[in-house]
Amino acid sequence: MTTNPKTAIILGTGLGQLASEITDSYEFPYSEIPNFPVSTVEGHAGKLIFGKLGGKDIMAMEGRFHFYEGYNMKEVTFPERVMYELGIETLFVSNASGGMNPLFKIGDLMVITDHINFFPEHPLHGKNFPTGPRFPDMHEAYDKRLIALANDIAKEFNITLQHGVYLGVQGPTFETPAEYRMYHLMGADAVGMSTVPEVIVARHCGIKVFGMSIITDLGGFDTPVEVSHEEVQKAANGAQPKMTTIMREMIRRA
Ligand code: HPA
Repeated sequence: MTTNPKTAIILGTGLGQLASEITDSYEFPYSEIPNFPVSTVEGHAGKLIFGKLGGKDIMAMEGRFHFYEGYNMKEVTFPERVMYELGIETLFVSNASGGMNPLFKIGDLMVITDHINFFPEHPLHGKNFPTGPRFPDMHEAYDKRLIALANDIAKEFNITLQHGVYLGVQGPTFETPAEYRMYHLMGADAVGMSTVPEVIVARHCGIKVFGMSIITDLGGFDTPVEVSHEEVQKAANGAQPKMTTIMREMIRRA
């Protein structure tokens, strides 16, 4: 059986369920792929899945690599380099984040319209890879046509979507109230510990990107609420069916 995927999905927080909908699948544990890092964080398995979803050949990453785990940015973004080599043209990514926009609620889905790179190391640091220019344009890191498609699908399925700017930090601490407020003042609507490096490298490889975040906690408001990994996962599980519907339909129609 062979597949020739043009679509890749990073099954971040909230998209785990989508893996079970992939048919005709064959899987490669990361540990069996040369040079692939291995994921260490609880709740993130580690394998590449090839198969069919929504009538399309797809490649899915179950488990991703975070900078806070100790990988350098070349390791964190190695899978996007592999995607490029395999001919991937569109990448769907999901994550969990803390919301700072006062209109957001826990469990909301936020379409990522733009990002702020607040990681201490740049994934394109060093000799330029010939997949893209030395100084890549980032005006439309998140594809506007895919955002419009998500909006249409959400309307059809009666799902409310938020839209906003995702700010990527190294973690692993969640933010102090002052940090949440600062990031909001800087123009971010949500903050999280992934996605930005992967998107930068995907764009450098000419891969179109769509990203969606589950708001799993809120920060920077008058009453500070404690955040834990368990709470984040609980909120993410609640929002999972909505996220899955939108992504599945997008892949079918994109
Ligand atoms: N901050 C950073 N990363 C996160 C958060 C947060 O509040 N929630 C989920 N991931």
